[in-house]
Amino acid sequence: MAEPNFKNRTLYHGDNLSFLRGMNSETVQLIATDPPFNKNRDFHATPDSLAAGARFKDRWRWHDDVHEEWTDSIKDDWPAVESLIAGARLAYGDDMGAFLYWLGVRLMEMHRVLRQDGTLYLHCDPTASHYLKLMLDAIYGRQNFRNEIIWHYRRWTAASRNFQRMHDVLLRYTKSDAFTFNLLYEPYGDWIDKDYRYVDEETGRRWRWHTVKGKRYKVFLEDRDRGVKLNDVWQIPYLGSTAKERTGYPTQKPLALYRRIIKASSNEGDIVLDPFCGCATTPVAAEQLGRQWVGIDIWDKAHETVLARLAAEGMLTADKPPPQFWTKRVHYETAPPRRSDRNELAAPSLKLKTPRPLEPWEKLSHRQMKKILAQAQRSNGNVICAGCGRELEREFMELDHIRPRADGGENHIRNRILLCRPCNGRKAQYLTLRGLLHANKKAQWLKDEGLAQLAREHARERADWVRDNFDSAECQALIGG
Ligand SMILES: C[S@@+](CC[C@H](N)C(=O)[O-])C[C@H]1O[C@@H](n2cnc3c(N)ncnc32)[C@H](O)[C@@H]1O
Repeated sequence: MAEPNFKNRTLYHGDNLSFLRGMNSETVQLIATDPPFNKNRDFHATPDSLAAGARFKDRWRWHDDVHEEWTDSIKDDWPAVESLIAGARLAYGDDMGAFLYWLGVRLMEMHRVLRQDGTLYLHCDPTASHYLKLMLDAIYGRQNFRNEIIWHYRRWTAASRNFQRMHDVLLRYTKSDAFTFNLLYEPYGDWIDKDYRYVDEETGRRWRWHTVKGKRYKVFLEDRDRGVKLNDVWQIPYLGSTAKERTGYPTQKPLALYRRIIKASSNEGDIVLDPFCGCATTPVAAEQLGRQWVGIDIWDKAHETVLARLAAEGMLTADKPPPQFWTKRVHYETAPPRRSDRNELAAPSLKLKTPRPLEPWEKLSHRQMKKILAQAQRSNGNVICAGCGRELEREFMELDHIRPRADGGENHIRNRILLCRPCNGRKAQYLTLRGLLHANKKAQWLKDEGLAQLAREHARERADWVRDNFDSAECQALIGG
């Protein structure tokens, strides 16, 4: 396991993707985070509050927010994630697709930095919780899903034609089966005195009658002080506008909620990370409970707010003006940490890979590869499928791997081919091209084996030519034009 390459009490300022990518793998015990939820609005802090001036956007647009680099790499390395995002885009709209891509790449890096005994709590609400659960099943593994926790609160809401919306959702996933979990209890309600209405004269313990098949037994209340085991519906009051811990930050969450998460899934001294830490509720809760912490936020006022909050909580004492003379110094960084491990990034099938530097010809986008291969496999104005030999219009062709990703096949053009949609579906993530030919023969889908072979040869020749002539004007015109 790698050593952390960041210090306790660090607050990173900027887009969390670059900071997450800079963190060593498997270094963090707990990630408790509350990203934007795709609420299609912008949030602003209350003027004159501690957080005055803070704002962040929670609107997502396909053309502005989705990078070709992400879609390509997710399509290649995380086919299940790509399919579910495509489904969400169809069912909900482009904005949900864009939001899921944006958050998906970050959830993959969070998975990488989590230790084997680590846990993720993803705070969301019903706007996207169902799509996010699918995505976490695909990234963290459905066997690592532990709870859907309902945070139930009461607040004032306007009249509407729906039942009042009074809950958020916390999705809890672990990295493996060997996770940290401390069972928590909450006090018994008043019902307990009514239910266990008798008191044993000798021991003072409460008890009640329990009847089984007509026979009555005495049942003692085990431990009055310890309370009842916590279930997955958490009643924690919403932060009112006059609450003492209010900083004015628009989406601030109660400390009680994050303290509970931290107590349940980490021990003293463990490292807690919040990559969307806002006004630092997670760092403050972690500090209160004797955990180490790292917070990341794109908002530039986060640092001042954390210091002011920690000081208000009595956890920092200053004899000189902040920030350099705080006795427990908070490190404020704007550059990502330097990796001191093997530099792995989140990669296919949850395996970690050590990236090697790519040659320029290996970095072609899907669009560019499709264009080159469509020319190589063309015939009579159409494109020949390299799986069945059918001649179809380019729109019916899909880019696939010759050697599957699951088998170590690479993403560059020399391992690519264009297949018609049925062949691509049949090949899925596991068949080789040879395996596809056999499957097509069996299913009587193979139309012209000779043509399919010709298409493959032309594609291979063209890919070799691109590799060998990448810098030539002809090749550049082919890629760019
Ligand atoms: C819902 S708020 C978190 C509120 C936090 N739980 C609290 O109690 O204050 C989401 C936060 O994510 C931050 N954020 C949005 N995009 C980000 C990005 N790419 N990198 C880092 N932080 C980001 C926003 O600035 C905002 O503070």
